[in-house]
Amino acid sequence: MGQYDGKVALITGAGGMKGIGRACALKLAAQGADIVISDFKRPTNDLPPQEIKAQWRSIDSVAEEIEALGRRCLRVWCNLTISSQIEDLAARAASHFGHIDILINNARAIIGRDRVGVTDLSEEVWGQFLRINTTAAFLNIKHVGRIMVEQGNGGRIINIASDASKRAKINTAAYTTSKFALIGLTQASALDLAQHHITVNAVCPGSVNTDRFNYWEADQAQVRNMSLEDFRASVVVDAGKSVPLGRVAEPEDVANVVSFLASAEAGFITGQAYNVNGGTLFH
Ligand SMILES: NC(=O)c1ccc[n+]([C@@H]2O[C@H](COP(=O)([O-])OP(=O)(O)OC[C@H]3O[C@@H](n4cnc5c(N)ncnc54)[C@H](O)[C@@H]3O)[C@@H](O)[C@H]2O)c1
Repeated sequence: MGQYDGKVALITGAGGMKGIGRACALKLAAQGADIVISDFKRPTNDLPPQEIKAQWRSIDSVAEEIEALGRRCLRVWCNLTISSQIEDLAARAASHFGHIDILINNARAIIGRDRVGVTDLSEEVWGQFLRINTTAAFLNIKHVGRIMVEQGNGGRIINIASDASKRAKINTAAYTTSKFALIGLTQASALDLAQHHITVNAVCPGSVNTDRFNYWEADQAQVRNMSLEDFRASVVVDAGKSVPLGRVAEPEDVANVVSFLASAEAGFITGQAYNVNGGTLFH
């Protein structure tokens, strides 16, 4: 018996081989949840080299892992820049399993092209970050929230935010703005949905040891004549040096907090934004 037996969780951006979305999916599935995972089909050039080497197949591979845990899994390809696909994702999840109990807004725009000063930031990149990181989360909350309200059994919504939701870093105007906005969306949705016993919270990781693809890191690796894998590994080691607990987070550190917020025990917590950062930021 697991604490999520009979529950269904929908998770966006869950196809990464070492991503936070996959870690959340496996954590909840291991405790009994059936899972709807979604992602979008990325060109090979936009994939981490580790995934290419491992012949990783995004949500198809994650679905096999979930099914190996004895849980059911629906995989849905959904491009979060297209509103109709977001609405369809919620509808397909509800019609396949009959209900949705947990929503995890985890996807984000592929980072790197945003990493310029605000005067050099293109409106296109700005718009893409707001669209995927903020508007798509709103639309998922809107469509899945309606389904949860109709079900009448409450629900859990968790937005994966960032330390960038609380403090800006240089050359991150689009990412920072999109993630600050996610906290506003979390608080406002928490108030609107409280009467239905649907809680809405955010989790704010600091640096995480994922293989996430980053255009800036790919460029830097080339300039330094290093492989992207080696450069990424050096970024992770360097980031860990400034963390009081001595390392960056693992995806599972984030999934542990997500799992608590999705549980019955977290029923009186809503509108909050929890840090998972090893002590780098306190508010
Ligand atoms: N990795 C970190 O260091 C870190 C730190 C703080 C916060 N976060 C947050 O954690 C979450 C997960 O990050 P990650 O590093 O595991 O994964 P990631 O950066 O690889 O992105 C998550 C997923 O979003 C998907 N995605 C991108 N564009 C999409 C689109 N148009 N439609 C649908 N899906 C799309 C990607 O395919 C990917 O699987 C993100 O919200 C991120 O902001 C990550």
